[in-house]
Amino acid sequence: MPEVRAAPVIPLPRGARLRPLAPADRAALLGWLSDPEVTARTSYPEVTPALVDAITARAAARWAAGEPSKWGLGIGDPDVLIGTCGFSEASAAHRWAELTFDLARPRWGQGWMGAAARAALRWGFAEGGLERVHAHVRVDNAPSRRLLERLGFRWEGRLRSLRWCRGAPWDFDLYALLRDDPAAQALGAGAAPGAAGHPARGEP
Ligand SMILES: CC(C)(COP(=O)(O)OP(=O)(O)OC[C@H]1O[C@@H](n2cnc3c(N)ncnc32)[C@H](O)[C@@H]1OP(=O)(O)O)[C@@H](O)C(=O)NCCC(=O)NCCS
Repeated sequence: MPEVRAAPVIPLPRGARLRPLAPADRAALLGWLSDPEVTARTSYPEVTPALVDAITARAAARWAAGEPSKWGLGIGDPDVLIGTCGFSEASAAHRWAELTFDLARPRWGQGWMGAAARAALRWGFAEGGLERVHAHVRVDNAPSRRLLERLGFRWEGRLRSLRWCRGAPWDFDLYALLRDDPAAQALGAGAAPGAAGHPARGEP
């Protein structure tokens, strides 16, 4: 993983941007994460101001430690935060990260997260040294599944009772995109450093 000490600002189409999350984003984050429709098909626990502060602090700490993490998705001038996108977990040793995203409900269905996720993936593969990005999607989360499929992720299987979601265990689908998948290459993922094919990869 590269030496990155803060989330890099990445310009997006339509005057939007990925940019660092900041303590001043608390009200905006709390706004959409308190919307039951936004967290209904996720494993988010009850969302409190303390949880929102922890999300922002964890993102800053992970970027500061050189680990890829979450960005804020801002639109307009002055900047209005409408979502987050980025990597919730990562392994430098194994060059993978887990993609995560959430968007304020009034902004759904307008393509904002698609653009943000493409930029995060391009950065992860081309700058962040990733070989694999995966995502866990609760089985009833159709909008997330549609987004991942549009991005070129492949379904790899169903993980039974993976996460406890507000009182019940839920199955999650595992999706992944690899650096040398055509969809990642089309994003500008770049060639794998020093890799000559994948002799250890089993083809299904
Ligand atoms: C998952 C989530 C971010 C997807 O948001 P979204 O608005 O559907 O995603 P996008 O911003 O990429 O928009 C794509 C949709 O906008 C439509 N669209 C409209 N204008 C568009 C444009 N200019 N470009 C691209 N898509 C556009 C697309 O047709 C697509 O519609 P569809 O989903 O009905 O097929 C959102 O539903 C969300 O925040 N959910 C709650 C949190 C969550 O579940 N997070 C994921 C946990 S794994």
